[in-house]
Amino acid sequence: MNISITLEQVEEKYLRYHGMINEALSSCFTKDDPESLYAPARYILEGKGKRIRPFLTLLASEAVCGNCLNAMHTALAIEILHNFTLMHDDIMDQADLRHGRPTVHLKWDANAAILSGDMMIAFAYENALKTDTDRHVELVHILNDANITICEGQALDMELEQRKDATIDDYLEMISKKTGRLISAALEAGGVAANADPGQLERLVTFGEKIGRAFQVQDDYLDIMAEDGKSGKVAGGDVINGKKTYLLLRSLDLTQGEDRTLLQSVIDNKGTSPDRVADIREIYERCGVLEEAREIINRDTEEALSTVESLPMDEGREYLKGFALKLMKRDF
Ligand code: IPE
Ligand code: IPE
Ligand code: MG
Ligand code: MG
Ligand code: MG
Repeated sequence: MNISITLEQVEEKYLRYHGMINEALSSCFTKDDPESLYAPARYILEGKGKRIRPFLTLLASEAVCGNCLNAMHTALAIEILHNFTLMHDDIMDQADLRHGRPTVHLKWDANAAILSGDMMIAFAYENALKTDTDRHVELVHILNDANITICEGQALDMELEQRKDATIDDYLEMISKKTGRLISAALEAGGVAANADPGQLERLVTFGEKIGRAFQVQDDYLDIMAEDGKSGKVAGGDVINGKKTYLLLRSLDLTQGEDRTLLQSVIDNKGTSPDRVADIREIYERCGVLEEAREIINRDTEEALSTVESLPMDEGREYLKGFALKLMKRDF
């Protein structure tokens, strides 16, 4: 699909808004005491987060009403909520690295990560309520629905780790909940801040669901395939933990012999040792699953682009589409 702005223009706007969002986040958790509560929140927000969700909130607002002046508090709420999920996710995934730095539960401990995350949820809602709108109830419903749906997705993620019979449909349901909903909520909340009508909100949500799915398939791809250090996470963490990703589930159908036996052992043993990661990466490279993952990402992104075609403000809408294309090609 054609868009009327260049990817350089999208990049320029993304960098500019990224700076604005970081600036605003840096003054969110200024209390010092108790140190073990507020310092972890500051620490995770100082990391190299991509700020994709708040950027989408601001762009959704621009696509609906032509500016994002009223959406910044909402955008911060979404980003703070997202970082709470990361803090707890890293405990659940026993992850040592996030944004290239030790995770909160390692730098402090699991209790600090749990509690600081809990505090961030409430803080996120407080930010959403600062939005200048008479639609606060709607904003809170969106955040609640996102929060509950993420918990469902994370529970399914944990259940799938234990299951030997997981299917690709199980995987797709799980990722739409753990990742897709917060991305669609970021867009929906941006729409509400811009006083969107129900039809506009519906289109923003569908756009978010589709790019959210593409985003998680790409996250799973980068978990094992990212260039050294670029993901800021432990390379191959998903296979080490026995995560049922698209790559693992689909490559079981595409392989035979020794390759298939090794992949099946990841399922049977609910994970593998870090020294098998390179072998599994090579199987993925050989069996065609990377190309299939790329097709899903491209198809979901193309479908997303057509859903926002009728949003009223041309410039904001074209930036939304341009950013979806940029995400499709991301390597970070
Ligand atoms: C990580 O999200 C969690 C997923 C849903 C895959 P991001 O990749 O957007 O993480 P940050 O915000 O850049 O840290
Ligand atoms: C992310 O899934 C889901 C949430 C944070 C809700 P992952 O577990 O794949 O995210 P990363 O890869 O650790 O960022
Ligand atoms: Mg994780
Ligand atoms: Mg996880
Ligand atoms: Mg991941």
